[in-house]
Amino acid sequence: MDHFLYRDGVLQAEDVPLPDIATAVGTPFYVYSKATLARHYRVFEEALSGLPHLICYAMKANSNLAVLKILARLGAGMDVVSGGEYLRARAVGVPGDKIVFSGVGKTPDEMRLALEGGIRQFNVESEPELLLLSAVAAGMGAIAPITIRVNPDVDAKTHAKIATGKSENKFGIPIAKARAVYAQAAALPGIQVVGVDVHIGSQLTDLDPYRHAFQKVAELTHALRADGHDIRRIDLGGGLGIPYMATNEAPPLPSDYGRIVHETVGDLGAEIEIEPGRLIAGNAGLLVSKVLFVKEGEGRDFLILDAAMNDLIRPAMYEAHHDIIPVIEPALGVEPQPFDIVGPVCESGDTFAKQRLIPPVSMDALIAFRSAGAYGAVMASEYNSRPLIPEVLVDGDQFAVVRARPTFDEMLSRDTIPGWLE
Ligand code: LLP
Repeated sequence: MDHFLYRDGVLQAEDVPLPDIATAVGTPFYVYSKATLARHYRVFEEALSGLPHLICYAMKANSNLAVLKILARLGAGMDVVSGGEYLRARAVGVPGDKIVFSGVGKTPDEMRLALEGGIRQFNVESEPELLLLSAVAAGMGAIAPITIRVNPDVDAKTHAKIATGKSENKFGIPIAKARAVYAQAAALPGIQVVGVDVHIGSQLTDLDPYRHAFQKVAELTHALRADGHDIRRIDLGGGLGIPYMATNEAPPLPSDYGRIVHETVGDLGAEIEIEPGRLIAGNAGLLVSKVLFVKEGEGRDFLILDAAMNDLIRPAMYEAHHDIIPVIEPALGVEPQPFDIVGPVCESGDTFAKQRLIPPVSMDALIAFRSAGAYGAVMASEYNSRPLIPEVLVDGDQFAVVRARPTFDEMLSRDTIPGWLE
């Protein structure tokens, strides 16, 4: 459930009609619902209740500071994958001991930043990273708390570009090698083992791969403890999928996911960490755009929007489906018609949907992409010199711009022409 509903024939974000926001900030724009974000966070809290746990929001999904602030105030930890993300977490007041640092390619500078500022743990993904982290920490007179991300060789049954738990993927250490690498870690001067980590992919719509992976992690935990390691935390990653199609998709509920967590690793006496991103932010956001032209083609009609692939890349990159609905509710009985829904960028890949059935709309109509709160604004670029679009946060009947649209001057001023070209 989200808070984007029609009221009196107009789509609202909570209690704010979307045309009001369009008038204030122009189109296209992203809009997020505070109530939906908070609700999704609480759903995970409930799913893990009864277990010692920390929900570390994977901010790669949406790292706007206002979004982070909402979650931080609810007590969330954060999963970060770069120095920039680490600083965002700190900027909204998340203490270091609630921040986990993931990612296959951490740099020495990023390691130092987190060690100086405070960190709950690094999720280490390779032996060279382990050695480097130990050297960096020891050089600072610090000890880096770590888990090792194991690759359980489980098929997450998701899109190939976002599956991470198979041996062919670049992530983690093969689970069969884990005991040897933990032994190595225990002997290093700058390292303290605190747990084990796994993440098998994103947009999972089937719970079996989770069960499978978590069982392997439970077995490994027993073995590592028998080897003398202090496995006090188990980080299970993120990845729970969301319904992108209002009609025919029913991904598992966080409560079902929680049951699997309880069943597989719940009796190990470890603190459970999870790193959800998409499920918290995805359905808490819309991308709102205006129809520039309705173009009649040969055998098909096009809706040409003022949003493009640079604003929302998921359809072009992952063949992702986003529901697209008119902001003005269609009258009862209006027959949907097929349109190719496209942006203005000069390549055919700038297509959001082909032959999508939607109620006919005319020039200047506003339309909304659902499920755009995760991996939307964060993946945007200024391709075609289209300035990043604004982000707006709604809370009840109030809204605020939480990232402004840069002016053309601001966009151009980021480039410099060397003196020797003048
Ligand atoms: N933890 C780790 C280590 C991850 O790599 C990810 C996502 C997450 C947590 C959060 O996963 P989530 O709960 O959001 O599924 N850009 C793609 C998704 C990339 C996901 C990358 N890793 C998309 O738009 O579908």
